[in-house]
Amino acid sequence: MTALDVIRARRPDFKPSVAVVLGSGLGGLAAHMDEAMAIPYADLDGFPQPGVSGHRGQLVLAKAGDTRVVLLEGRAHLYETGKADAMKVAVASLAALGCETLVLTNAAGGLDADMGPGSVMVLTDHLNFTGQSPLFNEPGDERFVDMVDAYDPELRRRLLKLAAGMELHLHQGVYAWFAGPQFETVAEVRAAGILGANAVGMSTVPEVILARHARMRVAGLSIITNKAAGMSEFTLSHAQTKRHAALATDRVQQLLLAFLEDYGNGHGKGNGA
Ligand code: HPA
Repeated sequence: MTALDVIRARRPDFKPSVAVVLGSGLGGLAAHMDEAMAIPYADLDGFPQPGVSGHRGQLVLAKAGDTRVVLLEGRAHLYETGKADAMKVAVASLAALGCETLVLTNAAGGLDADMGPGSVMVLTDHLNFTGQSPLFNEPGDERFVDMVDAYDPELRRRLLKLAAGMELHLHQGVYAWFAGPQFETVAEVRAAGILGANAVGMSTVPEVILARHARMRVAGLSIITNKAAGMSEFTLSHAQTKRHAALATDRVQQLLLAFLEDYGNGHGKGNGA
């Protein structure tokens, strides 16, 4: 059975409209939602097997208000396998289930002076510094995906409005994708800043490309867990990423829940992309 068949068989009448990929620190979102049902990635052929601490490996079907949602707790990163298309089956399955929107979350290092640990940034665009694409080997003309407004402006406005209502300051900026797993050099961070990056990280961009290929709308949120390399006296580590992601967990979960509940009221729909 394909992953899609398994998901459909476990919950035949569940027609989701939104999916969320939960990055470091956000794995607890399902506990705040209704009728949650988890399916381990191990049961889903082609889904990534979890290998990074802080990332679980399961898909959760759940409701936020009247909105049916798929949560992906755990993702594959380029640095785990060297393959940029490791999330291909997962994203294709979300699209086939009927999800029209994909919300991507991650942990990232901040470049802006006012974006310290615990800050939250909504993505306006990205820079792909890896030279990789999840669409390598993809046949057909559909592979030539337009990346203008890949991060849907209407969804971003919605997030900014909801955040303002809960006194969460949402920064806006460009996310630069580095392959990892080593953190960036000081020179790389300096170069990324000159080229327009506001944050650096090791995920999300391949999922954005896959989602746009599947004609899904995309929103992205970064939890800033540290100042980028060379910008503070602290040594970078994954322990710090996990610890500092927790600084923003409650606020980002609250924002995501509000966004998801609102989505069912028709606010998420708009550009028909
Ligand atoms: N760089 C890359 N990835 C990250 C960082 C960083 O500084 N912080 C959290 N994830």
